[in-house]
Amino acid sequence: MAKDYSHYFTRPSAQAARKRKTTTTPIIDFEAHINVRHLGVGKKYLIQTYGCQGNEADTENMRGILEQMGFEATTQETEADLIILNTCAIRENAENRVFGEIGRLKQYKKHHPDLILAVAGCMPQDESVVDRLLKNYPYVDIIFGTHNMHQLPYYLETAIHGKERVVEVYSIEGSIIENIPKRRENKIKAWVHIMFGCDEFCTYCIVPYTRGKERSRQPEAILDEVRQLANEGYQEVTLLGQNVNAYGRDFTDKDYTFANLLDDLRGTDMPRVRFMTSHPRDFDQATVDVLAKGGNLMPHIHLPVQSGSNKVLKKMNRKYTVETYLALVDAIYQAIPQASLTTDIIVGFPGETEEDFQATLEMVKRCRFEGAFTFIFSARANTPAANYSDETPMEEKKARLKRLNERINAGYLAGHQRFDGHTVEVLVDGESKHDDTVLAGYTQHNKLVNFKGPKSLIGARVPVNITEAKTWFLKGVYDESAQ
Ligand code: 5AD
Ligand code: SF4
Repeated sequence: MAKDYSHYFTRPSAQAARKRKTTTTPIIDFEAHINVRHLGVGKKYLIQTYGCQGNEADTENMRGILEQMGFEATTQETEADLIILNTCAIRENAENRVFGEIGRLKQYKKHHPDLILAVAGCMPQDESVVDRLLKNYPYVDIIFGTHNMHQLPYYLETAIHGKERVVEVYSIEGSIIENIPKRRENKIKAWVHIMFGCDEFCTYCIVPYTRGKERSRQPEAILDEVRQLANEGYQEVTLLGQNVNAYGRDFTDKDYTFANLLDDLRGTDMPRVRFMTSHPRDFDQATVDVLAKGGNLMPHIHLPVQSGSNKVLKKMNRKYTVETYLALVDAIYQAIPQASLTTDIIVGFPGETEEDFQATLEMVKRCRFEGAFTFIFSARANTPAANYSDETPMEEKKARLKRLNERINAGYLAGHQRFDGHTVEVLVDGESKHDDTVLAGYTQHNKLVNFKGPKSLIGARVPVNITEAKTWFLKGVYDESAQ
């Protein structure tokens, strides 16, 4: 008889999730609670990561756990003993790619019967995905979600020794796991989670269900991590959260906000501090004021607007209007005149008319966005918007996306042109992907710069004189005299 896994997960429920209460978040210390055994010695692992920076950061934790178990990293599927897919559920095409990939990886199981295949991250948080995996992909050995990555050593133990399939997905409200060993790939820039989950419930979005309720890490844990990274020579951190402006809202024992955290981070030796993602409703003047102090706080703000129509924003449950969003943008430009703003926009949300779409185009111009991630609405099961009637044909949505992207690209170019002829600070990431005689890095405003210079500059912040502005990048000359 097939094993009954139904008690491991519950269907994402908007109703149940909305009843979440702010409670003190339990903090679990990985090192004290998890007994890591060295089951990975002599074995190799490979992790494929999909989706957002949050998943990239989770992958670094999984790598840390696996390496503590003795596993070694490989990039070759043929020699891997363990393959983990860290998945994303935000849009349907992201999910389809993962299912395609699981199908493709089946061949390696034939050649290497002991290969362990695991599916982790956001997709398994949806019960229907787990059902589909159990039914159509019986060769997947381990399925786990976003709340229990720290249990990976036990799941591997069961799969390796027990040769049993492991399915464990929690729908609990979530805790915070501190001290998971991390294996960061990049030695120059680091991701730092400041919070987990999201309580905004935008009607199109699956994240509040896949990532659970909003939970902030303790300020000291974050500050310690950033100080430690600075000591190790890191040049930049990006603070991560689905809505960083809600940071601290769940603290029941203190009044400490995102603005306080940024202010405290100004006092560290970390050369550059960035953050993602902001929610316009929760972005307060105190945060604008701290950012205006500059220093290591970078003048680039990613501020998802989603739509320029009040009617659509209301249906999306974004809880701001075009007018309040513009007031925030004005306040940012007033306090930080050189700020670079980028955004996220969804086109073809159910009920979006040509007029609504025109309002979005207008918004792009008025806000002077210098970049955007643009998406066609994708209905996600069990979210409210999946049930809204949607009459706009896909062809029309694609045409709107194309028109929007043309406008956005003009913003990219204008954002680059304003630096033409200026000397800017570039944090050098490495060689350009397209030409290994050229170095590539990012400015404080997060603009990609290509220039010629010695490889010894990799990892340093150096002055570069901008000589040409293109749509996708800037070209420049290393300005040795300004060093
Ligand atoms: N369809 C299309 N885009 C979406 N996003 C989130 N959910 C959906 C969806 N169902 C976009 C939003 C968000 C970004 C991370 O992904 O623009 O800001
Ligand atoms: Fe999703 Fe972001 Fe809205 Fe949260 S704030 S529900 S993560 S779009």
